[in-house]
Amino acid sequence: MSCVTTIGDASWTHGAGDERSDGLAAALESGDVLFFPALAFSVGAAERRLFSPAMVTTAKNISFDPRSGRVGGLARDGSDPIALRDLVSRFSLQAAAFVGEALPDYRDRIELGRTSFRPVEIAGRSSSWRKDDTRLHVDSFPATPVHGRRILRVFSNVNPYGKGRTWRIGDHFESVARRFAGRLRIPWRGSATLLHLLRLTKARRSAYDALMLQLHDLMKADAEYQAGSPQTRFEFPPGSTWMAFTDQVSHAAMAGQFQLEQTFLLPIEAMLDPQRSPLRILERLMERPLV
Ligand SMILES: [Fe+2]
Repeated sequence: MSCVTTIGDASWTHGAGDERSDGLAAALESGDVLFFPALAFSVGAAERRLFSPAMVTTAKNISFDPRSGRVGGLARDGSDPIALRDLVSRFSLQAAAFVGEALPDYRDRIELGRTSFRPVEIAGRSSSWRKDDTRLHVDSFPATPVHGRRILRVFSNVNPYGKGRTWRIGDHFESVARRFAGRLRIPWRGSATLLHLLRLTKARRSAYDALMLQLHDLMKADAEYQAGSPQTRFEFPPGSTWMAFTDQVSHAAMAGQFQLEQTFLLPIEAMLDPQRSPLRILERLMERPLV
């Protein structure tokens, strides 16, 4: 099972300290969640008013593109676009600086993805089974193919009311992939072109992306797997930060409100051991190249 490794003395600008950084990339690649209990993202007193579900549309989160500076998901009335952009862009900069310091092996190759602010309580939220993130899953993007690149995410619980964020953390990627491999289907020729022409994807969807989406769905749709597979619960307290390769670590967010999240993409060639990537594991199981 994936496990949570605690690193007590991390700081935003000095990473996890020189002596500690060595093992962090290896731990992430083996499927660990790295937990920084004392790494709090500070929120100004004036920003407290942004901590309301009324700030977002039905998309349920504010999404920020650090490259364009564009903010999405803002409620038409009642939100404060400038203050919200300030909050999420500040988190994005800090998370990027932290990853650069804590994971020097990745520094030159890692790409900055989107930033999210999630002000809606997870528990009791209604959604379709496919969008229900209280079910164990690995992350994959329906509209934005990654072509094998890794999805690394940094999360901070910024709940001002003392509430933790509870995750279930599941089995290793290879075990999960083996369990469902017999039901994974290579997409038919031409489907990637069609999806792209219909603008359902922003680039051609690789076979890898298609299989990761299938795996995500198979995991979420399987009640027996959800209830009976190896798993552990962990509560990330307010004022803490954690990170994981969420395309690899099976996870389910069970409860919590007010989280900031930064996504990074990493080419597998930049990994210490690319053989541990979901791409290489799926290629071994399917006995064919997938990108
Ligand atoms: Fe997820």
